[in-house]
Amino acid sequence: MNPLKHVAIIMDGNGRWGLKYKNSRNAGHKAGLDTVEMIIKETIKNKIDYLTLFAFSTENWKRPKKEIYYLFNLLENFLINKIEELDRNNIKLKILGSKKFSSKLNELLDYSEKKTSKNSKLQINLALNYGSKLELINAFKKISKSKNKINEKNLQKYLQTKNIPDPDILIRTGNTKRLSNFLLWQLAYTEIFFEKKLWPAFTEKDFKRIIKEYKNTKRNFGKI
Ligand code: IPE
Ligand code: IPE
Ligand code: MG
Repeated sequence: MNPLKHVAIIMDGNGRWGLKYKNSRNAGHKAGLDTVEMIIKETIKNKIDYLTLFAFSTENWKRPKKEIYYLFNLLENFLINKIEELDRNNIKLKILGSKKFSSKLNELLDYSEKKTSKNSKLQINLALNYGSKLELINAFKKISKSKNKINEKNLQKYLQTKNIPDPDILIRTGNTKRLSNFLLWQLAYTEIFFEKKLWPAFTEKDFKRIIKEYKNTKRNFGKI
C-alpha cells in the first residue's frame, strides 16, 4: 500500500452548485466551506501530514468584483472564527501565493501563519492568489541571481513549496479535467482524480474512495 503524506485539492464547482440550488454563486462559496471543514477532519483522521487547498488563483482576479469581495470576506470570517480551533488542534497554516489583499486580510493571514507556525499535526497550505507559472518564474529569477546551479534539487528550494513533499494525490472536483495553473512542477508524479461532483457536494465517502484507490495504485516513477 502506498504511503499517503500529501493531498492537494482544486476545490472547483462552488459557483455552479450555488446557482443550481440557491440561485446564487456566492451561496455556493459559502457551502463549499463546509466541505473544507469536513476534509480537514478526514485528513487528520487519515493521518495525512499536508493538505493543500486551491482557493483563489492569479487568474481569478478576472471575476466580478462583487464575487471576489464576497470570497475574501468569507475567508476573513473563517479565519477570525476558526484560527484558535485550528491552533488548538495542532494545525499549521501556510499561505501559498502572494499576499496582495486588503491590509486587514494581509494582517490576518500573517497573524494566522505566525500563531500556528510551531504546530505539527497537519499542515494546511492555502493557495491564495497563487499561480504556478508565476511561482516558477520567481523561482528561476531567484536561482539565477544565486550561486546555485540550476538543477532539480536547487530549484525546489526556491519554490513556495520548499520543504513540502510533492502531493501524492490531486483531487479536482467540478467535472473538468484541467490543472488551471496549479502546482505544475510539484504534480509531476501525482496521482490525479478528476471528480464529477461539485465541491459543495463532495463527501467523506468520496474522499475515502479516492484514498483507497490511491493506496492500491501501482506507482512506477518510471520504473517497472
Ligand atoms: C470555486 O469554484 C473555486 C474558486 C475560484 C473560488 P468556482 O467558483 O470556480 O465554481 P464554478 O466552477 O464556477 O462552478
Ligand atoms: C481553479 O478553478 C481555481 C480554484 C479552484 C481556486 P477555476 O474555476 O478558476 O478554474 P477554470 O477557470 O475553470 O480553469
Ligand atoms: Mg470553476
